[in-house]
Amino acid sequence: MIYSIVKYGHPVLEKRGEDVTEFDTPELHRLVEDMFESMYAAKGVGLAAPQIGVGKRLAVIDISTGEDPAQKIVLINPEVVKTEGSHKSEEGCLSLPTFREQVVRPLKVTVRARDAKGKEFEMAGDELLARALLHETDHLNGKLYISHISALKRDLIRRKVRKLQKAGEWE
Ligand code: NI
Repeated sequence: MIYSIVKYGHPVLEKRGEDVTEFDTPELHRLVEDMFESMYAAKGVGLAAPQIGVGKRLAVIDISTGEDPAQKIVLINPEVVKTEGSHKSEEGCLSLPTFREQVVRPLKVTVRARDAKGKEFEMAGDELLARALLHETDHLNGKLYISHISALKRDLIRRKVRKLQKAGEWE
């Protein structure tokens, strides 16, 4: 099932999700599959559960955009355990369509999380993968990438979104 993506302005995006406590259930596996399907349909490289209106700490990532099944990542209850360096690159979010900004993030990151079966793992990534791991972990903590840009740029985006909402072009 393909979910529609919740857009910026919806409170679920700015609330910390609840930790997932039940693993390896048919419902959880279904949700993970649906999230991959929804992410590919929206042409994203990551999708967090709050973005489909589900306030849980679960996200999926695939920086190969469906080209390489080995790169599919399920990230449940993730915590950042280590970061290194700094890297500036353009970033966007499916919940903020049409907007893109330069965002400074650590160059390398190590996260600890669980998979859909509940197995704990640690994974390290750099550049785009690091960015995706951090962006999705942020989502699960109720944070959007625009919290990492200047207040001036963030206000500009807020104003543009408000205009689009008034015009009925932001649903
Ligand atoms: Ni996002």
